[in-house]
Amino acid sequence: MSCEFKWPRLLGGSGTGIAYGGDYNPDQWPESIWAEDIRLMRKANVNVVALGIFSWDRIQPAEHEWDFGWLDRIIGMLGDAGISVDLASATASAPLWLYEQYPQVLPRDKFGHAINAGSRQSWSASSPVFREHALELCNRLASRYGDNPTVTAWHVGNEYGWNNRHDYSDDALEAFRAWCERKYGSVDRLNEAWCSAFWSQEVHSFREVLLPRHMGADSMVNPAQQLDFERFSNDALLDFYRAERDEIARICPGKPITTNFMVSTDQCAMDYSQWAKAVDFVSNDHYFHEGESHLDELLCSDSLVWSLARGNPWYLMEHSTSNVQWKPVNARKCNGELMRDALAHVAMGADAINFFQWRQSRGGAEAFHSAMLPHAGADTKVFRQVCETGQVLKDLSERRVAGTKVTPSRVAILFDAQSQWSTEIPTLPTTKLDHWHDVRDWYRAFLDAGMRADVVPLAYEWEQYDLLVLPTIFMLSDDAVHRIEHYVNNGGSIVVGYATGIVNDSFQVGLGGYPGAGNGLLRRMLGVSGEEFNIVGVPGADDVVELTDGEVSNLWQTCLTRIADDAQVLASYTGAGALTWELEGMAAIVSHDYGAGHTWYVGCDLRRQDITHLICEQLVPCLGIELGNPGIVTIDRTDGTHVFRCRLNRSGNDVSLRLNPGIVPEGMLLIRGDCEGERVTLRSNGILIEQIHTDV
Ligand code: GAL
Repeated sequence: MSCEFKWPRLLGGSGTGIAYGGDYNPDQWPESIWAEDIRLMRKANVNVVALGIFSWDRIQPAEHEWDFGWLDRIIGMLGDAGISVDLASATASAPLWLYEQYPQVLPRDKFGHAINAGSRQSWSASSPVFREHALELCNRLASRYGDNPTVTAWHVGNEYGWNNRHDYSDDALEAFRAWCERKYGSVDRLNEAWCSAFWSQEVHSFREVLLPRHMGADSMVNPAQQLDFERFSNDALLDFYRAERDEIARICPGKPITTNFMVSTDQCAMDYSQWAKAVDFVSNDHYFHEGESHLDELLCSDSLVWSLARGNPWYLMEHSTSNVQWKPVNARKCNGELMRDALAHVAMGADAINFFQWRQSRGGAEAFHSAMLPHAGADTKVFRQVCETGQVLKDLSERRVAGTKVTPSRVAILFDAQSQWSTEIPTLPTTKLDHWHDVRDWYRAFLDAGMRADVVPLAYEWEQYDLLVLPTIFMLSDDAVHRIEHYVNNGGSIVVGYATGIVNDSFQVGLGGYPGAGNGLLRRMLGVSGEEFNIVGVPGADDVVELTDGEVSNLWQTCLTRIADDAQVLASYTGAGALTWELEGMAAIVSHDYGAGHTWYVGCDLRRQDITHLICEQLVPCLGIELGNPGIVTIDRTDGTHVFRCRLNRSGNDVSLRLNPGIVPEGMLLIRGDCEGERVTLRSNGILIEQIHTDV
């Protein structure tokens, strides 16, 4: 079932506006504190909380015992205060009694050890026993609160796959066998896809299909089997989510349902191009990357989330007011980053800004994770900033920012979760490949050039873009290559990265020269063919290879030995590294006309500044795009009548701008900036939002 877009309403007024709040865990505190929580929430303009995410034990303290009293009381108090509730299915963290009575619900690691209870998500998505208990909980919650007007949305599970992404239990083995049988239909097809003749791995019945469990010191897994296991694990969790969703929707149709994704800094855990079709509205948790990449990384993650939401508003379910507590070094947010991050998410299409969590815990594993209301109380810098942010979001709501749509770019960087999984397989030419990081490098290189690209799932529509970038899409199916060929044939332009199109979706190498995807079709489009991969970085040898234009490659060079007559070599290898590695004079970057369109092949990894150079010198002139000031990111949200032009200072220095002449009276929101006449100076982390008539 594919879901229609449905957005939760706020309580009171028109029910629209930007939602503001966070995870609320009142069950961790005495009830005497709740009234104070709500008073402070109102002070901060909080209008929504996500409730009960980890509260299963408090709701069902024993197998046949239920306690909804506390939940009734807090939902009642929140509703009276005009704060809506995004109610959890509460299944993210199961009670200890359940593990004690049904230890078979625990997932197992690849060595066969049980993943012990005591943390979160210590359950197997393939366990029928766990499913039965989880669905009963969903049923009880939906029956009790389905009609409650304060509950305006359902928050199913929490970050599926965080702690149970891979499960090697016997239940998982049975489910994997059934999954393979559904996918392949016959063992012959499976053997063909898995190249099972290698190392005597042919299966004669689906009963012989194995999970990629630990196989001793030489644990080199068949990559096709591993990739199918990744897909299966994604599907098992998605299926579990759907079962919870359907149980709730059956009893409580009409209220929007979501689950929070994890598109963030270093991860994009699941294949969200599939998950996004199973939620009524897309929601995401984003945790920041300290240092100079902070804002760029946020925008890159948000861009993918925006695409997953198909341009509809999306929900920031969690981010942090300041530091987290799960890294070796946990930097706090300062210099306006709290407000800047919140508004950057709004600029990128979020109509809900939420934090983990409302009140900072005094104990437990997350006691040192920041929150909206810190240990030191309400008379604190963090809480004051939380209140200021709430006020600004209220102001933006009154200006009717909510519901407006982000204006797309003309350039898309394609992302494919399954290719990301394929680059994580340990038997590649190098284990240093990382598709998601290369997406981010390209994203940042475009920002450095003075423009913004979109990040779009490979599985979605991207035909409307003028240029596509395919960075390290290691695995490209024949279908995907045909779609891309159709796009270029009809006038589209593509940039294909060094490790793109090497294997098909069964992890079989395309033959006849690299990149061999689509039975050579990709090669023909690019006008190149390579024989080997030169991987640098081994101790004692030159570890960089230079290019004729001054670019530098640090990891991978595809040894291109054939170039089509009508292709143009834009840069080749030169210098000491090239001599050592027999690359001297070999083509590195090649451009080629194909059909009505154009292709560029970048046969090696490049530093970010080199990618920016390529963008400015080659891609932008070809597309006729006007570049802006690289120190500023500009994002427009529009309802067709007004544009909200959001400009964020990413430079770390003061940047001077001219106000847009079409700005409506009182149509300026300026944070960390000064305005003098027509000019605005934005300080570091400063934000300017101008409300402009579309006809100007
Ligand atoms: C998320 C999780 C929250 C909290 C937060 C801390 O992954 O959903 O419950 O643990 O991280 O950063």
